[in-house]
Amino acid sequence: MRFDPVTTLQGSVLAPPDKSISHRAALIGAMTADPVRVTGYLDAADTNSTLAAVRQLGAIVEVRPDEIVIRGTGLREARSSASPIDVGNAGTLMRLLPGWLASQEGRKWTLDGDSSIRKRPVDRIAEPLRRMGGVIEATDDRFPPFVVHGTRLRATHYELPMASAQVKSCVLLAGLAADGATRVTEPAPSRDHTERMLAGAGVQIQRDGLSITVSPTDELELEHVHVPGDPSSAAFWLAAAALIPGARVVVRNTGVNWTRIGFVRILQRMGGVVEGELEAADPTGAAGVPGLEPVADLVGVGPAAGAGTGTGLRGTLVLPDEVPLAIDELPLVGLLGCFAEGETIVTGAAELKVKESDRIATVVEALNALGGDAEATADGFVVRGTGGLRGGTVHSHGDHRLAMLGAVAGLASREGVEVVGMDAAAVSYPGFVADLRTLTSG
Ligand code: S3P
Repeated sequence: MRFDPVTTLQGSVLAPPDKSISHRAALIGAMTADPVRVTGYLDAADTNSTLAAVRQLGAIVEVRPDEIVIRGTGLREARSSASPIDVGNAGTLMRLLPGWLASQEGRKWTLDGDSSIRKRPVDRIAEPLRRMGGVIEATDDRFPPFVVHGTRLRATHYELPMASAQVKSCVLLAGLAADGATRVTEPAPSRDHTERMLAGAGVQIQRDGLSITVSPTDELELEHVHVPGDPSSAAFWLAAAALIPGARVVVRNTGVNWTRIGFVRILQRMGGVVEGELEAADPTGAAGVPGLEPVADLVGVGPAAGAGTGTGLRGTLVLPDEVPLAIDELPLVGLLGCFAEGETIVTGAAELKVKESDRIATVVEALNALGGDAEATADGFVVRGTGGLRGGTVHSHGDHRLAMLGAVAGLASREGVEVVGMDAAAVSYPGFVADLRTLTSG
């Protein structure tokens, strides 16, 4: 699919529902015995894999026009399944679900997925689950397909070797059915949606600095979850606005949880303008766990039209502690770097190698193919700003965020961009191209 340069980007779009929160709503809904209403559930490939998985485990999912209703099995009653659970492309499903299943005594499940998921490690969740007494058998001890044998779990204190919301969440979910309080300590804050949703479900969960403690429970009480718009999807429009003179884009109903808007802080530091009420305080620094997800309309504002050729953006250094707070948006930081003055350096992000594609390699390849000057490092990349991008061809490698990056690059390029494999966007943002047409048609 081709994306030609545009002279304007104007209008308003509704941010698609948050993928991370949707996965959690389906899983925690399935763990709850009473019906849970979910409004704003993301209808995309990844989150539909989660609905299929919880149905296979015995939950009844009713999809209505304006909400879904999940009638779960209860915390300890997931149904065993002879056929493998297909997680598709969804790493979050693959890493969170075993936290629930590991405690279901006497039952077992096999989890498998697409060719990209088979390259993504599960040892990071197998390790803490085994410490709790869990039994996991993985291919080459590291990869899917893998088998989870349900057993009685012991409480633990797990210190995460790297900041990962998926691993943290897996341990917290396992802790719900362990024999005492389970504590997780993260080296730096990561997204806290699981903590917020469990607090909303009446679970005793406390934060103390970088540690979270969860107490076991017999049942969850969750009547309704509302899923806000996804800041990781909104980020494509905020980045596009920052690159196109005179742009003004409103992304309505965007989740602005502090742990998810590291990208907005980086963009603002580079000189980009984003208006809207962001969650200001770091909730992970305070005691307690906030129950609700904050939401706002965000406005991306472009450089002044006709004020010369540049975007006015400055290169920046992204430090390791910022990485978990902007992990899925780091490809966009690289794109912005091509249009900024000076160097943009991302450090402490070796994790990018095990995302939907090896995002250090694929981002560097994409930016260079479009005329950028990017170089991979062991734990990130360096982009030297060259004042813009010529254009060319980007291969998505089946990675939704790379496909959408290529499209945004096309809008801001001199000659346009052809994206090979644009259909990958359906993993998180099926309406992406339609929204792009809305914003470029004015
Ligand atoms: C996610 C956490 C992040 C992120 C992924 C979604 C989540 O992964 O990259 O897209 O929903 O918990 P890690 O926690 O493994 O860094």
